Amino acid sequence: MRKQIVAGNWKMNNDLAASKKLAKQVAKKLKKDKVKNTKVIIAPTFVSLASAVKATKKSRVKVAAQNMHFEESGAFTGEISAKMLKSVGVKTVILGHSERREYFAETDALLAKKVDAALANKMNIIFCFGEVLADRKSGNQETVVENQIKNALFHLKADAFKNIVLAYEPVWAIGTGETASPEQAQDMHAFIRKTMADKYGADVANSTSILYGGSCKPTNAKEIFSKPDVDGGLIGGAALNADDFLAIVNAF
Ligand code: G3P
Repeated sequence: MRKQIVAGNWKMNNDLAASKKLAKQVAKKLKKDKVKNTKVIIAPTFVSLASAVKATKKSRVKVAAQNMHFEESGAFTGEISAKMLKSVGVKTVILGHSERREYFAETDALLAKKVDAALANKMNIIFCFGEVLADRKSGNQETVVENQIKNALFHLKADAFKNIVLAYEPVWAIGTGETASPEQAQDMHAFIRKTMADKYGADVANSTSILYGGSCKPTNAKEIFSKPDVDGGLIGGAALNADDFLAIVNAF
């Protein structure tokens, strides 16, 4: 049985006070909503991780980091290691987000090193990938996504995927309001699952959660999440409002 997951990627939003407030709101509303079998994750910025862990301790909300470096420590100004994330109680990290790939030149090879470091530190990973508009327009989306997954993940052994959630985020849908149609999401998720099955077999493919991200909102989440190969969402803008985020959590 695959896990249903809704994760909120807060990106570079909310200072410490605002993060504490939002984390507490999400935890409180989740308790009231008694959402049973959906895993709920929030990903504040580094400065708010420790306080978000504290604010959500008595709830089912888990806290993730938005990035990490692959080295354990050293002369890497501005970077944060897996060990440092673990030291503040964070066991999950988002890797491969298109904004890291675009603005910080993160390549598949670099991401493979980050994936290895996260796994070596027994962290869970939400691994992001997705095509840009030009790829979609030229019909290359499946080749692009297949290469992103293969180049960063297919050196791993099958059991590594017990700690990896895949997140398909068509770049042209991120922050644009241009959500992929439920059919587009299902087609790509089914392709991703087949790519996983061809490499690792049906058991691994069918137990790996694949999230959709890209303008997922309370108004469209239910239809997207109703698709057989969509196991939840990685939410940006809508995660910054507790009511909208919980509406998406409840969309299954
Ligand atoms: O990581 C999730 C994010 O990229 C999606 O952003 O604002 O389109 O929901 P948004």
